Amino acid sequence: MDTTREATNAGPRRVRRRRRNGRVARTTLLAGVFLLGGCAGDGPSALDPAGSGAARVANLWWLLFWISVAVFVEVMALLVWAMVFRRGRDTRVRHGQPLRFVAVAGAGLPLVILVAVYAAGLRDLAALGEAPGPRAPTIEVTGHKWWWEVRVPGIDGATANELHIPVGERVRVRLHTADVLHSFWVPQLMPKTDLIAGEVRETWLQAERAGRYRGQCAEYCGTQHAHMAFLVVAEPRADFEAWLARLGSTARQPETDAQRRGQQAFVQGTCAGCHAIRGTPADGRIGPDLSDVGSRWSIGAGAVPNDGGHLGGWIANPQTVKPGNNMPPQPVDAARLPDLVAYLQSLK
Ligand code: CUA
Repeated sequence: MDTTREATNAGPRRVRRRRRNGRVARTTLLAGVFLLGGCAGDGPSALDPAGSGAARVANLWWLLFWISVAVFVEVMALLVWAMVFRRGRDTRVRHGQPLRFVAVAGAGLPLVILVAVYAAGLRDLAALGEAPGPRAPTIEVTGHKWWWEVRVPGIDGATANELHIPVGERVRVRLHTADVLHSFWVPQLMPKTDLIAGEVRETWLQAERAGRYRGQCAEYCGTQHAHMAFLVVAEPRADFEAWLARLGSTARQPETDAQRRGQQAFVQGTCAGCHAIRGTPADGRIGPDLSDVGSRWSIGAGAVPNDGGHLGGWIANPQTVKPGNNMPPQPVDAARLPDLVAYLQSLK
């Protein structure tokens, strides 16, 4: 009876197995494509370091990668050797037989490798934790849900989602959070540092070459965690000093009638309750300081590009652009909106 059932089921079972194998192969292929796809694009990569901090991490990553490759190749070679050359031999381990190979390759070698990798990791950890000298420039960064407030000690001004550093110099970055856990990460310059409530964390940034390096919050902090990006601009010392000077000076005055009307709408409307623009009566501290908003790379910490259309859309209803953020839809007169946009875009 059983034999008959087996005989009749053998065909369908083989088909089922073949189908299942096909599914597994397709899933594996798709997963591979997606994984590799994640590596493409122009996002910043920690394996393309532009500073000594990130270079340490990248070197450690490659060390681990090549060790893994070597172990994989060795294990595969042993597998092939066992399948091809030891096939059919009696490979039972006999009692009392010396297990030197197992002891060396299975315990000794991994121990040596793991201790060496651990030592390399400790060395890098110590190097990354070294504070920059007392004369190094300092920048204060505060994480908010979901943007970055940037200040420089001794300068009475602030900006958001962008900080500048002089090329080749170590800059101290002091990190605070206004609410929950965030993590400050510039993949091409420095590994992550968590922002912890009630604590001041410290890290440093250093870039070997001038450029714009994208940073990202690396600790899940709520619905808009992905839209908590920032930019580090590494530039010659003179440009860095010009940035410091701009940070300490008042915002540009309006030059056209539209800009003047926009400024009036800003300081008399609800905007001024949360935002500051230096040199105007607007001095709200809840949202980002907007004194240089026209020069920023994005609106909403990487949510949308900074252009007239997106800016108008953001002012009218920021909740459609970045749901959950603190800014409510604004009751702005439709006729005033273009003026407001013109004024804010002129703040460079
Ligand atoms: Cu802030 Cu994630």
